[in-house]
Amino acid sequence: MSTEGQTMREGTRIFVTGSCEGLEQLTEALDRHPEIQLVGRSQTVREGASALAGGHLQAVLHATRASELPEDDLASIREYTRAPIILLASGEASLLLDAALEADVADVMLLPQLPENVVFAVRKASHNGRTGHAGAGGRVLTVFSPKGGTGKTVMSTNLATAFAKHGGKKTLLLDLDLQFGDAAIMLGIEPDKTIYDLVVAPGELDPEKLAGYTTRHSSGVDVLPAPVRPEDAELVTEAKLSRLLEVAKESYEMIVVDTSPFFHGPMLATLDRTDELLLLCGLDVPTIKNVRLSLQTLELLSFPTERIRVVLNRANTNVGMKRGEVEAALEQRVRFEIPSDRAVPLAVNRGNPAVVSDPKADFSRAVREMAKSLQPAAPAQAKKRWRGALAKA
Ligand SMILES: Nc1ncnc2c1ncn2[C@@H]1O[C@H](COP(=O)(O)OP(=O)(O)O)[C@@H](O)[C@H]1O
Ligand SMILES: [Mg+2]
Repeated sequence: MSTEGQTMREGTRIFVTGSCEGLEQLTEALDRHPEIQLVGRSQTVREGASALAGGHLQAVLHATRASELPEDDLASIREYTRAPIILLASGEASLLLDAALEADVADVMLLPQLPENVVFAVRKASHNGRTGHAGAGGRVLTVFSPKGGTGKTVMSTNLATAFAKHGGKKTLLLDLDLQFGDAAIMLGIEPDKTIYDLVVAPGELDPEKLAGYTTRHSSGVDVLPAPVRPEDAELVTEAKLSRLLEVAKESYEMIVVDTSPFFHGPMLATLDRTDELLLLCGLDVPTIKNVRLSLQTLELLSFPTERIRVVLNRANTNVGMKRGEVEAALEQRVRFEIPSDRAVPLAVNRGNPAVVSDPKADFSRAVREMAKSLQPAAPAQAKKRWRGALAKA
């Protein structure tokens, strides 16, 4: 990309919180270090909440003066981010070292340290955090496109349905088109609770509470719809959303997220938890231009390129442009092609996803194939179900 190098700040994205002897000098040195990008610094975990939740961090450095493990601080950090945590301590810390072995921390370093040592620990922790990512709980699949009408909601509702019905996966569909979400309408359900009710409800969120706010579709998908009133969208904060995704990963195998065409706060918090980003493109120049810009933005946000899957929707439309031209313009491979199909608008208006209402349609077959290759290795029973579903069509 041509802007690379001028606008992009490289380096592992870290956040420093807490306090201990020698921390200020170390933080300054890290801030100057070319391999580190210091996203921010706070005295307490709570003060750093929004950066921790939405900062796309690759590591969190938490400093403590205590000689014991700061369990409460670690738990608060985990409310906001899954990034690996490195504990920094000064003074007598033998108790802390023992307890840290059992705790969810990537490393402990006693200050003073050479900044180079800390940089190495940060990079190692971030590397391990990344490779270990997919194994931790359910898989978050985010469907995004910078343009309205590209088919995000059609794709997310049909994919979620395919995961639940044909893949036998416990699936949540989360509608994060917070102002004008229509996932519930496309599924033909009328939920009486939305994500708004969930975030304003008092008390901590846990899997049991989440279950009380979702609505089951006949395919087996649990749906958490967008707020009914557009003005309620702003109450869905980044911190609330981060926690929601954490909990969803505990209770579901697949979490499909429908989005709006913006990189706003909730989207950034979602990207932080996204295992696979389906970036929807079409065969028209304005959409391609905007998808290209989105790829640049994702790069600036340090979103890992290997998690991006470009999906070409309405791929068979004859508009004087081909897949190869899209790939050249985006400098990215198209991973999935989904055909334009009359079955889709018919299914939308009936409020029943095409993969179930019209399983033989070309669109439905393509979506099921895509779902199959996106979900983690299936157990034998699910494989049989897929075979049945694909053979029928
Ligand atoms: N592959 C397709 N074939 C036919 N129609 C499609 C296809 N994908 C999307 N559409 C139509 O485009 C409309 C907009 O899709 P939608 O999913 O609401 O877009 P978005 O959520 O990106 O704004 C839908 O009502 C649907 O009828
Ligand atoms: Mg939509």
